[in-house]
Amino acid sequence: MSDSRVLVVFFSRTGTTRVLASTLAGMLSADLEEICDLTERSGASGYLRCLADSWRKRPAEIVPAGLDAAQYDLVVVGTPVWAGAVSAPVRTYLFENRSKFRHVAFFCSFGGLGSQAVFDEMRTLAGRAPVAQCEVRAGEVQRGAVAASLALFVSDLKRHLADYEALEWIC
Ligand SMILES: Cc1cc2nc3c(=O)[nH]c(=O)nc-3n(C[C@H](O)[C@H](O)[C@H](O)COP(=O)(O)O)c2cc1C
Repeated sequence: MSDSRVLVVFFSRTGTTRVLASTLAGMLSADLEEICDLTERSGASGYLRCLADSWRKRPAEIVPAGLDAAQYDLVVVGTPVWAGAVSAPVRTYLFENRSKFRHVAFFCSFGGLGSQAVFDEMRTLAGRAPVAQCEVRAGEVQRGAVAASLALFVSDLKRHLADYEALEWIC
């Protein structure tokens, strides 16, 4: 792998996005950070809270990030899709760290609907276009088909990192 520093950041309510994030971190030799949400989201009332946050495009209160995004060449951010929107904790993370990003990439886990709207929202929140994006269905994660689903995304990211390194070397 390259000398570039890569950070994978994610939120996961039920573990699906966590599987993707930890697999990606391994494939990219990246640091890994889980966003800690201060809102109770378990059970039926927690589910409704997620829906309400999504409908209102409301941010969530989160624990401040432990790793400094400004120290990384690439920050890869992952979220579950909630009602066709970014999860509220990732909404907060992207907005709070937008000035620190050099390059970003996005991934999401979902049931099958709404990923493009999520990527559009992430791009607006981060204030920049992603170098690559990847959607993975929760069913694929449950079947253990994650590495195959992420292979193209990872090879795109590695190509971009190699390009930046070549550019920095020339400059
Ligand atoms: C409140 C809520 C809303 C959801 N809305 C959608 C949706 O609009 N489209 C979709 O494909 N999946 C939707 N899902 C399914 C999740 O995106 C999917 O199960 C995801 O993999 C969960 O990730 P996690 O286990 O990391 O929390 C929703 C799940 C929740 C909890």
